[in-house]
Amino acid sequence: CKDVGILAMDIYFPPTCVHQEALEAHDGASKGKYTIGLGQDCMAFCTELEDVISMSLTVVTSLLKKYQVDPKLIGRLEVGSETVIDKSKSIKTWLMQIFEEYGNTDIEGVDSTNACYGGTAALLNCVNWVESNSWDGRYGLVVCTDSAVYAEGPARPTGGAAAIAMLIGPNAPISFESKFRGTHMAHVYDFYKPDLASEYPVVDGKLSQTCYLMALDSCYRRYCSKYGKLEGQQFSISNGDYFVFHSPYNKLVQKSFARLYFNDFLRNCSSVENDAIEKLQPFANLTGDESYQSRDLEKVSQQVAKQLYDAKVQPSTLLPKQIGNMYTASLYAALASVIHNKHTSLGGKRIVMFSYGSGLSSTMFSFKLQDGQHPFSLSNIATVLNVQEKLESRHVFAPEKFVKTLKLMEHRYGAKDFETTKDTSLLSPGTFYLTKVDSMYRRFYNKK
Ligand code: ACO
Repeated sequence: CKDVGILAMDIYFPPTCVHQEALEAHDGASKGKYTIGLGQDCMAFCTELEDVISMSLTVVTSLLKKYQVDPKLIGRLEVGSETVIDKSKSIKTWLMQIFEEYGNTDIEGVDSTNACYGGTAALLNCVNWVESNSWDGRYGLVVCTDSAVYAEGPARPTGGAAAIAMLIGPNAPISFESKFRGTHMAHVYDFYKPDLASEYPVVDGKLSQTCYLMALDSCYRRYCSKYGKLEGQQFSISNGDYFVFHSPYNKLVQKSFARLYFNDFLRNCSSVENDAIEKLQPFANLTGDESYQSRDLEKVSQQVAKQLYDAKVQPSTLLPKQIGNMYTASLYAALASVIHNKHTSLGGKRIVMFSYGSGLSSTMFSFKLQDGQHPFSLSNIATVLNVQEKLESRHVFAPEKFVKTLKLMEHRYGAKDFETTKDTSLLSPGTFYLTKVDSMYRRFYNKK
């Protein structure tokens, strides 16, 4: 079948958030460190009422309803998440409640986990299924759901929380260019979760930044090479209309695009202008390692790529800057931002995506866009996403209240035999929330 890809999308994020400017002051960080240094505006977080299961129940129910998709028409459901609630039972099985009600238990797929990459693994599985001999004509559904929380310290402002659902099938307005994929996978300890009693990761922040950029280089080279072989011409930044990156925090996205520009310079691409060539020339002979360490290169490449960044990357940054790192959902929230900002002019455009999950796994791939037919049209996706209204209706917590919430969640993580307050006053109608965990660790949810 033709043009397999994303037919429909919806996003859910908690209505509770903290301003980075306030958090910066509260943490005693220097003014501007989180807002300019990390490039973040706001951070969403789950209170005791919400978790990755409730958020995914909310977003899947919402997508099916808003696009009027019959739950019987889902043939594969894959979840990407790195938030461990149960070491055996997949998040997908909780979502089956939605489908069992309609008599549909014939749904393949379980959860995929590897840091922020699980959502991409789930997406590739669904796309491959629709393109395969096993496809039975029904839709695939991908859910990316995570609550990113860090221990007190420099990583804490890079948290976030959200769930995204994507409906997969043929004739999609956001279709995969399946032949152009570049992957890089390796064994490193940059960010991992070995302490099963804690929700917090062990993270080597500096190493994770370098691993991310090395993986980006490697994927970009492979993507370009496959494109070159199949299209008979060199790929450069000028062949992509938008570049969407996994976004732990915005500064890394700025550095990533500059890195692609530097790659184009090293590959002698015609897209790199003369004055940029002059400015980047002093860095042409750096070894790979030296180039990741060079602060001057970072500065100069960001400066020469700035104009292209504004045009090709900036439209993807809204939700990641407002919500924070959503782990598996981050990349797709960035894609949702492009659709929100540009849906009237995306027909015929190419969006290049870079997915990174620590540990590590990474893939660069691309989408071709077309306007599509209602309800699976770009304009309807933008309407359903309803980004502006969702952002504006949030409740801002003071940093003290945010810290207190995280303390409570530390105790609740892995705990049994408790009830939540069930105070749903901040949740919008249709939102699922946790009511209790019983003595057998069974979790119970209600819908507001
Ligand atoms: N005004 C403006 N900028 C400032 C200020 C200030 N007052 N203070 C610091 N900065 C800048 C720094 O110069 C730096 O920017 P640069 O990299 O362009 O130089 C930036 O703010 C961050 O400052 P650092 O001192 O480097 O930050 P720190 O080491 O305290 O923490 C880090 C940052 C490592 C990203 C940390 O938040 C972290 O570990 N996060 C989790 C790991 C992560 O997200 N890794 C990314 C890939 S893996 C993944 O997705 C989980």
